[in-house]
Amino acid sequence: MSKKSSRLLLATKTEAASFGRMPIVAKHKLHKLDLFSDSALIELLETHPRDHLQAFTMGTDCENRHEWQPVDTASATGKDLFAAVARGHLWFNIHRVQLFHPRFRDLLSQVFAEISQLNPRFKSFNQNTTLIISSPQALVYYHADAQPNFLLHVRGSKRVWVYPAGDRDLIDQELMEDIFASYMDEEVPYKAQFDEKAKVFEIGPGDVISWPQNAPHRVTNLAGLNVSLSAVYETEESSRRKLIYCANRLFRKSYHLPTRSVKESGVSSSLKTFAYRGIRKLGMIPVPPRRAYITNLRINPDAAGGFQRIDDGPVLTEFSKKEFVLEKNPGGEAFAVALGKAR
Ligand SMILES: [Fe+2]
Repeated sequence: MSKKSSRLLLATKTEAASFGRMPIVAKHKLHKLDLFSDSALIELLETHPRDHLQAFTMGTDCENRHEWQPVDTASATGKDLFAAVARGHLWFNIHRVQLFHPRFRDLLSQVFAEISQLNPRFKSFNQNTTLIISSPQALVYYHADAQPNFLLHVRGSKRVWVYPAGDRDLIDQELMEDIFASYMDEEVPYKAQFDEKAKVFEIGPGDVISWPQNAPHRVTNLAGLNVSLSAVYETEESSRRKLIYCANRLFRKSYHLPTRSVKESGVSSSLKTFAYRGIRKLGMIPVPPRRAYITNLRINPDAAGGFQRIDDGPVLTEFSKKEFVLEKNPGGEAFAVALGKAR
């Protein structure tokens, strides 16, 4: 990004004050940069480490999340990946782009600096960004994220359903604890009647959408290759909420204490988070198992959907290869073993 570039966010102070607090759509200018052209995306897909790139395919029914499946990217070039997602039925999460591509690093810090200029009370840290490239008809199932985030939309159009945060009818408190403690991949049960509580937005290039921390949401692409940047961050408040949910989970499951209150202030909340921190310092909090992504599907830009079945599968995806190996039991069934634990 050139030094002379002007503001990237066109949000007003009022809009910036709502970031992370209520569902809101404001404007930005990222789609005018040359970072998101076909050729720039092909180059990025070619050079980005494959253990930081997740490819998935999904069905067309937002109620059937079992159709969400990983797809392996082995031996696909950047050009192959781009052609497959442009024509097929795929979703790419390209993680931590700011670590591997300096222009994305500059862009991310500029966006966060601009939000803080507009709203000095917005104090974020641990900012991270995932570049999302998805097919014209792709969708993302109903879920909630642990950390606050917002989506800078750059190409194509999509419909986003945003549901109220903290509504226990929409997401069970214990599921939310599992999400905070990384025991669950943000998956929560969905019913069509939840939509009565949703705010629905149609967004296009130049729109940024933000919602409150933990607000469930789902997405359906409407047209064109979709390209967005998901910006994730933490604040003092969001970290405190995480501690409270993780403390409740730990004390209930491991120490059988009736901890359920999600109050974020007061003596009992402080005591609980203090005790949790102490136990964490002693290394006494179980580490959640990492998930291995295994699949029978591999990218093929010439195949319908942008992928084909692997005849001698399943395989570990490139995303999981640094952490796991695949072994077979006597019945010939494949299973993943975390590296270091392999025989
Ligand atoms: Fe999300």
